[in-house]
Amino acid sequence: MQQATTTSEKQTFNLAKKIAKDIKGGEIIGLTGNLGAGKTIFTKGLAAGLGIKQTVNSPTFVLMKVYQIRNQKSEIKNLIHIDAYRIKHEQDIIAIGAQEYFARPDSVTIIEWADKIKKILPKKTRFVNIKNKGGDKRIINI
Ligand SMILES: Nc1ncnc2c1ncn2[C@@H]1O[C@H](COP(=O)(O)OP(=O)(O)OP(=O)(O)O)[C@@H](O)[C@H]1O
Ligand SMILES: [Mg+2]
Repeated sequence: MQQATTTSEKQTFNLAKKIAKDIKGGEIIGLTGNLGAGKTIFTKGLAAGLGIKQTVNSPTFVLMKVYQIRNQKSEIKNLIHIDAYRIKHEQDIIAIGAQEYFARPDSVTIIEWADKIKKILPKKTRFVNIKNKGGDKRIINI
């Protein structure tokens, strides 16, 4: 386990952007942490690190968004961003076809509120917890 402390939104963004450099494809990243902890900021940083230029916003109402990666040099073709906050049952995630991406080596999936759908996540899922320590301080466990 790896731990980092950040003291600004920008630092969390940059941490995730750096982590993106180690991504090979097929990863599933499960974000946990309270409301406003920084899960979406982390996702935005990861997306930037993967070369996504589009604005990444939380897919709270649509549950899932797919961002295409057009970088020729990258083996990774899609970033799947899921927000499980409103999910009442794991079945909702299965119904939108999210699981089909989990096994794809050309896709990376990042899930906010991953603890809500833990039961259907593959064993290889890597969890990242963001703890709000008050003010702008966050402790990030990877
Ligand atoms: N060190 C930090 N890292 C990340 N965000 C920070 C930090 N310090 C302050 N913030 C602020 O905390 C908020 C984090 O918001 P964000 O939407 O990323 O949280 P979230 O975990 O996705 O929330 P939600 O559960 O509603 O989806 C932002 O307003 C951001 O500016
Ligand atoms: Mg969010």
